[in-house]
Amino acid sequence: MLNKVIKQQLELLLQSGIKEVYPPVCQKGQRLDELAARYRNCQKCELAKGRTKLVYGEGNPDAFIMIIGEGPGASEDLSGRPFVGKAGELLTKMLAAIHLSREEVYIGNIVKCRPPSNRNPLPEERLACLPYLLEQISIIQPKLLLFMGLVAAQTLLQTSENMGELRKREHLFQNIPAFVTYHPAALLRNPNWKHGAWADLQKFEQRYYQLRDGS
Ligand code: URA
Repeated sequence: MLNKVIKQQLELLLQSGIKEVYPPVCQKGQRLDELAARYRNCQKCELAKGRTKLVYGEGNPDAFIMIIGEGPGASEDLSGRPFVGKAGELLTKMLAAIHLSREEVYIGNIVKCRPPSNRNPLPEERLACLPYLLEQISIIQPKLLLFMGLVAAQTLLQTSENMGELRKREHLFQNIPAFVTYHPAALLRNPNWKHGAWADLQKFEQRYYQLRDGS
């Protein structure tokens, strides 16, 4: 089902003209800002009812790396910014550990509105929101993806594989190399998983330099 939606969305984006799909670098930020404003009052799913602010995403519109999480929590819902609560603080530290700042990557989520009590987003909520993320990816054109947690990975890779399996290898999403690691909120609950996350991040960093510098 999601696969079909991804295909349809890609076709739509391609049919809508090259300007839409591949905007010049200097216009990417403006385009993302326009879209964030356009979707601010989205009513496509039930999550709209409990929303304070839609969390569209933020970061470098020309980012090489895009980080994809699950969905806003309480702090994000209030501020309208992704990963600003406790999990966000850890994400910032995880990025710093591999010499990346939040400002140089782009940070987005599978769903843009907070699920009640931070439950996992339902399949229909993910499906309703997915076109927004696909649109962001088509504008930013990242060269490397990092999926934080099972919801992001399973949704985008169309799989029910578990975290252990998903972390083992590099994936491709729309031909973009993609890696999977633990969600920072999961790491806060299970500090003993941090060793594994560190190993994932080191592999990711190595691949980043390889792709960026061709080494
Ligand atoms: N968890 C996520 O997956 N995304 C956020 O933006 C915040 C917490």
